[in-house]
Amino acid sequence: MAGSISADRVPDMSKRELMNLLLLGAISLPTFGMLVPYGSFLVPAGSGSNAGGVAAKDKLGNDILVEDWLKTHGPNDRTLAQGLKGDPTYLVVESDKTLATYGINAVCTHLGCVVPWNAAENKFLCPCHGSQYNNQGKVVRGPAPLSLALVHADVDDGKVVFVPWVETDFRTGDNPWWK
Ligand code: FES
Repeated sequence: MAGSISADRVPDMSKRELMNLLLLGAISLPTFGMLVPYGSFLVPAGSGSNAGGVAAKDKLGNDILVEDWLKTHGPNDRTLAQGLKGDPTYLVVESDKTLATYGINAVCTHLGCVVPWNAAENKFLCPCHGSQYNNQGKVVRGPAPLSLALVHADVDDGKVVFVPWVETDFRTGDNPWWK
């Protein structure tokens, strides 16, 4: 009869359930497989006290080991390392030959030049428009409107790890502008 389906061509309930299960599996397995990498991408690297931290890298891209660094970098040294988001970041050696617990982001707060350290002047001097920052990166002369950003320089298993600085800026007593 035209327009009707004979009863023997309609799958019975268990066949339909089986087909639905197969279809569900065919869709969900690849979907799950795709979501796992995306999900892990959304979870920040690291955990615990170093949440959001990255290993500091030297100019060759190697992890910086604090013991080796202090053998080759003397008191009051400020040398660039690769920091959070790849920003050039100074590691600071204190006058007592220990590594400071903070690093200084070298990106000038005026228009973004990388600010060199000038040991003779004991300051960071921006070559672009003359801004000056003291030896902790606090702005002391404009046109830069703000101090250089801070990061924590932690040590984990002998390696230097940069961690976002979200607390009060110890140089100014203000909330960090870079948060
Ligand atoms: Fe540093 Fe202008 S970019 S003073």
